[in-house]
Amino acid sequence: MLPGAMGSWLVPGLVVLLVMGGYGQEHGPVWLLEPPARLVFSNSTGARVSCAAHGSPPPALAWQLPDGAPLHDVPGLRQVLDNGTLVFPAFPAARYRQDVHGAVYRCRASSAHGAVLSRDMRVLAVYRCRASSAHGAVLLLGPSIEE
Ligand SMILES: *[C@@H]1O[C@H](CO)[C@@H](O)[C@H](O)[C@H]1NC(C)=O
Ligand SMILES: *[C@@H]1O[C@H](CO)[C@@H](O)[C@H](O)[C@H]1NC(C)=O
Repeated sequence: MLPGAMGSWLVPGLVVLLVMGGYGQEHGPVWLLEPPARLVFSNSTGARVSCAAHGSPPPALAWQLPDGAPLHDVPGLRQVLDNGTLVFPAFPAARYRQDVHGAVYRCRASSAHGAVLSRDMRVLAVYRCRASSAHGAVLLLGPSIEE
């Protein structure tokens, strides 16, 4: 309990905080870091992207496809970490996969108090290729981004 004199000051303040949904109140997830609408990266660098949400209790984070299917790891090409980070390692151009490198993803944050779904994130991995007819010209190849 709060000591008398101090308590008489603090208690009205605490009541205001609780009424306003402040500390101690359980609430559903709210985005702290939503994924970007687009993630473009090179096969030579790879990329990682994170999402983060706050809530009480802390929400669980997961990545999914637009149809709601959860993302699974694709060895060497895509890794889904528990902390909300999605990793696309560097990859040889021959291993390009449309369903991994040219796909749409969403992050989902959920707890017992609800769930929120992020915006769509369009991923586009490009790989460089020297065109033999144009000396030293570098082309970026990859699927076009649908608008
Ligand atoms: C998640 O974990 C990975 C590997 O431990 C780390 O690199 C990444 O920064 C972490 N992401 C967040 C959002 O903390
Ligand atoms: C990315 O693709 C280019 C072109 O095919 C290739 O030369 C390069 O080695 C690839 N990067 C990696 C990390 O495999």
